[in-house]
Amino acid sequence: MKNKTNIIDSKKLMSAAKNAMKQAHAPYSNFKVGAALLCQDGSIYSGCNVENASYGLSVCAERTALLKAVSEGKRKFSALAIAASGKKAMPYPCGACRQVIAEFCNKDFIILVVHPSGKYESFRLGDLLPKTFEL
Ligand code: THU
Repeated sequence: MKNKTNIIDSKKLMSAAKNAMKQAHAPYSNFKVGAALLCQDGSIYSGCNVENASYGLSVCAERTALLKAVSEGKRKFSALAIAASGKKAMPYPCGACRQVIAEFCNKDFIILVVHPSGKYESFRLGDLLPKTFEL
């Protein structure tokens, strides 16, 4: 887990996630989230949560970043960093985002979860979502 993160520029990716958080549209929860996705070609796509008055149509930061990248033709990814404004807990990705990430990324894909204090944790997708649903 940790060894894998050494081959990516974790600091740069985490800083991109924190930066993306500033664009969050979160007037209902007041919980701002930013995500930064590292593509295997070295490019980074960022995203934020975009909430909606109908609540259920709100989109998470992770999916915003991933869908931006996929819609620009990217298909191969190395890592994702997630940062959020909430200080109570680490911003682990929700189950829906884990499944959407698993559509494109294998079990060794790295997910860096960043707390506002600067503390962070690194996971393999396979640890966060074992036994992925597949057709
Ligand atoms: N949120 C994310 O952006 N990512 C997650 O993995 C979990 C939750 C957002 C959705 C909503 O805008 C806010 O956080 C509160 O749930």
